[in-house]
Amino acid sequence: MEILECINSKRSIRVYADEIIPEEVLTNLIELGTKVSTGSGLEPWGFVIIQDKNEIDSLSEMTKQYLLDNFEKYPYLQQYKDWLKNSQYSIFNHASTLLIIYGNVESHWHVYDCSLVAGNIMLAAHSMGIGTCWIGFAEYTLNTKEFKEKYGVPEQYELVCPMSIGYMKTKLTPPKRKKPIIFNKK
Ligand SMILES: Cc1cc2nc3c(=O)[nH]c(=O)nc-3n(C[C@H](O)[C@H](O)[C@H](O)COP(=O)(O)O)c2cc1C
Repeated sequence: MEILECINSKRSIRVYADEIIPEEVLTNLIELGTKVSTGSGLEPWGFVIIQDKNEIDSLSEMTKQYLLDNFEKYPYLQQYKDWLKNSQYSIFNHASTLLIIYGNVESHWHVYDCSLVAGNIMLAAHSMGIGTCWIGFAEYTLNTKEFKEKYGVPEQYELVCPMSIGYMKTKLTPPKRKKPIIFNKK
């Protein structure tokens, strides 16, 4: 896919085919992701890949329960209460893979760098017919001490992007955006 077409047509995908993404494809996507610019050349990223369906389902249920139990802490999630209360709703939209990006806080730039990596991975995936969605709902539950210990994430790495990823089932229309504000132009 031509690069401008790729940028112009990439959407967040929430319906996936059952086919599992092979490990070499994920490794390739991560390598492409890490070609981004990196503050002070520090490359402060690390990744966790989860492809166990039961684990993904249980992380979704645990996250929904955690958010509902702590709802008052997260006023910006109020509009999603009905989704979270719905027993059929999977926060990862039943994706067969989670790709989680962590940033090393020893780099001042870790959030910027890892967000760039996420963007690159999303675009590269889109060009391969693979859909992605940033799952902000999971930003607390995939960043706990217990979770990080379970998946070997060192303490100094903090979660930046939880991403669900899987082969696309349907193609969406290109994103529509408001006209960008350019502050110094009328
Ligand atoms: C930081 C961030 C957090 C997001 N969190 C979620 C989420 O928890 N669940 C979800 O379904 N989509 C999530 N999204 C996707 C947005 O809802 C989506 O990008 C937006 O609706 C625009 O749609 P598009 O990406 O298809 O153009 C998130 C996107 C970003 C950048």
